[in-house]
Amino acid sequence: MAGWISLGISGANGRMGRAFQALLRDDARFELAAKVARSDDWRTAPKLDVVIDFSTPQGLDAALAHCEAHGVPLVCGTTGIDAAQRKRFDAAAAKIPVLYAANFSLGIAVLTRLLREAASALPDWDLEIVEAHHAQKVDAPSGTALALGRAAADARGRDFDEAARFGRHGHTGPRKPGAIGFASLRAGDIVGEHTAFLVGDDERIELTHRAYDNAIFARGALAAAAWLAGRPPGRYTIDDIVAARAVS
Ligand SMILES: NC(=O)c1ccc[n+]([C@@H]2O[C@H](COP(=O)([O-])OP(=O)(O)OC[C@H]3O[C@@H](n4cnc5c(N)ncnc54)[C@H](OP(=O)(O)O)[C@@H]3O)[C@@H](O)[C@H]2O)c1
Repeated sequence: MAGWISLGISGANGRMGRAFQALLRDDARFELAAKVARSDDWRTAPKLDVVIDFSTPQGLDAALAHCEAHGVPLVCGTTGIDAAQRKRFDAAAAKIPVLYAANFSLGIAVLTRLLREAASALPDWDLEIVEAHHAQKVDAPSGTALALGRAAADARGRDFDEAARFGRHGHTGPRKPGAIGFASLRAGDIVGEHTAFLVGDDERIELTHRAYDNAIFARGALAAAAWLAGRPPGRYTIDDIVAARAVS
């Protein structure tokens, strides 16, 4: 797009909203035209080229309604949305460009590609996914670890729910061939680390991603917003951004 991209942030006062505003101070691509902190704020929003929503499921509903009504592309990273809301989001793709990702790190998007490739090329190697996060995280394994496991199972043509093994304790018996094992560490202030171990006879591949700051998600979402503005309606993915950036 030529010139500044007029951007709206939904969830502007949250942790991610503040991370966006910090990055936008030095980002010449965007003009931050709307900071939306509650659903009512949309009533006074100016004309926008793209909206980024990192808020709550209710915040996403309001952002989606505004974007559909005004033909504005929507990038969304809000988690905890249910199947009905996911359906509404997907249906909006008939009218506007939409892009959803549960993890906006471009590094994780590339790691997912590498894992798909490795898992399908080495279908009989054992696969274990180990993740580490800060002590305050309440769920395990991380959503990203699960998404990596699903991508690997998919690349191998395996059913994820059947292959997944969560944690091990006591007399577990030998490893089941084809299993995808998960292990979680919780300690201190670790932002997020994921390693996929692919283990064959006498050799091993380790694919690791380490996040050092939450800004990586904001950076990835801004790359997605710059890419999505001006596109035709449709459902896009973070992998489209990776493909668009790749040097051919
Ligand atoms: N996809 C990714 O890569 C990624 C990465 C990080 C986080 N996330 C997700 O992004 C979301 C936000 O994360 P966060 O850490 O920034 O959470 P947060 O600090 O709790 O921020 C959420 C913000 O949304 C606001 N909000 C509530 N209702 C709203 C509405 N109707 N319209 C607009 N804003 C509304 C909240 O305001 P009040 O406090 O006034 O209610 C709050 O300021 C979460 O779902 C999180 O899981 C995704």
